[in-house]
Amino acid sequence: MAARSLRLQLLGWLLIPLAGIVLVNTWITYDSASVTAGIVTDRTLLASARSMAEQIQTSNGVMEAVIPPSALEMFASGAADRVYYRIASSDPPSGGALIAGYGDLPTPARPPDGLSPRYYDARYRDSDLRLVAIRQPVAGVATSHSADIIVGETLGGRALMINRLWTAGFLQQAALVLIAAVFAWFGLQRGLAPLMELGRDVVKRRPDELAPFSDTALQSELKPLVGALNQYTERLQGWSAVQRRFIVNAAHQLRTPLTVLSTQTAYALRTTSPAEKDEALQAIRANTRQMARLANQLLTMSQVEPGGRPMKIQPVDLVAAARRALESLVGLALGRNMDLGFDPRAKEAIVSGNPTMLQELVVNLVDNALRYTPAGGVVTVGIERAGADWLLSVRDNGPGIAPEERERVFERFYRVLGSGAEGSGLGLAIAKEIVESSGGTIALADTEAGAGLLVVVRLPAAEAADVHGQTSPSERS
Ligand SMILES: Nc1ncnc2c1ncn2[C@@H]1O[C@H](COP(=O)(O)OP(=O)(O)OP(=O)(O)O)[C@@H](O)[C@H]1O
Ligand SMILES: [Mg+2]
Repeated sequence: MAARSLRLQLLGWLLIPLAGIVLVNTWITYDSASVTAGIVTDRTLLASARSMAEQIQTSNGVMEAVIPPSALEMFASGAADRVYYRIASSDPPSGGALIAGYGDLPTPARPPDGLSPRYYDARYRDSDLRLVAIRQPVAGVATSHSADIIVGETLGGRALMINRLWTAGFLQQAALVLIAAVFAWFGLQRGLAPLMELGRDVVKRRPDELAPFSDTALQSELKPLVGALNQYTERLQGWSAVQRRFIVNAAHQLRTPLTVLSTQTAYALRTTSPAEKDEALQAIRANTRQMARLANQLLTMSQVEPGGRPMKIQPVDLVAAARRALESLVGLALGRNMDLGFDPRAKEAIVSGNPTMLQELVVNLVDNALRYTPAGGVVTVGIERAGADWLLSVRDNGPGIAPEERERVFERFYRVLGSGAEGSGLGLAIAKEIVESSGGTIALADTEAGAGLLVVVRLPAAEAADVHGQTSPSERS
């Protein structure tokens, strides 16, 4: 959850590098604090040693040292440090006679050479010491020419100084980071407010409220999001309009035959002539058949339209599907004395789709050809290969469809005026949706002979996997 919060993420991106910088800075501060403290300690040691050196005198050819109180007072640092010193004659070179102080105080690895002091660290009486050794020439002495002065101090004062220096720096920087964090938090809070507001807006909406969302209060980075949201609601609006129109049309299509049915029934009940009763019953049967077909078409439509119930897609043999479709239409062809021909150029034509739907596709196209072509006409169904596709063609020698109508006949419920035969205008719309759900295209054209209509369906060829058992009866609902 924490990783998903934009606020925490942004804050993290800000604070983690800042904390890293503070850490590095603190380390650098500590380093320079030690250097500073080291320099200060060394200077004090040297000053103390020098002031002791000045007080070395000779009396009767013997060196004497008087330790001035100031030489020790300059160490007062607040930490209870101990100061040790040792003054000895420097002859012989390995260390001469002790004049004052602690004789066992550690000496430097190399003796001082009189020009520059020697600083060194050593351990003495269980404490770490910082020491300085200087050599001071002394005049008027018979045996010696110079004295070595060593002053050492325990490290408490130095540590105290380092701590004071670096904690001050660290606290300052930590305070800066804290202030930055507080401001960043409030800034984010304010910056994200319009987004939160948008979220509440979206949640508050009723499902039928499809007005665009306002993006005036939003930052430019968030405007594309609202833009996308608005585009989506626009598409939803279009889709819901299509759905509404469809429902209205469907209701209308059902109401008309129902009214007719009621009239026909009333007539059948009223008439006393058995012949007229029979006639009325025949009409009722034809009417109910048409209504059943419409109901089936509506169901098919709801299945093939985008967002409808997902259909099982599998490899289907188009030749077999067309053959079954034609078999179901033989009755219609015979009744209208049509010459219905099937001319597949391959034994098998595998495409991917739903077997029931592909059969329905052929039925719709051939049904049109049989109905709109005057009795005694010729209808031919062909299947052939064209590159990576299979072409299914249905041609007739009827009146055809005028070029300006060829787009519109694919609309739901659209029928060409005066086309005579019964129908609700859904056949081609369904055909188109089936073809598109299989990734193909459908087009209307003139036939080579001029008269009639040529419908060409182009479906991408698929791999021949298992195409058996494609007529499972359960699939027809
Ligand atoms: N082969 C054809 N020849 C001439 N006109 C056609 C042909 N096929 C379709 N049409 C025209 O296109 C219109 C739409 O056809 P479609 O199949 O979509 O609906 P329908 O046949 O009227 O009704 P339904 O198929 O739903 O029962 C038809 O009304 C008809 O005028
Ligand atoms: Mg039709």
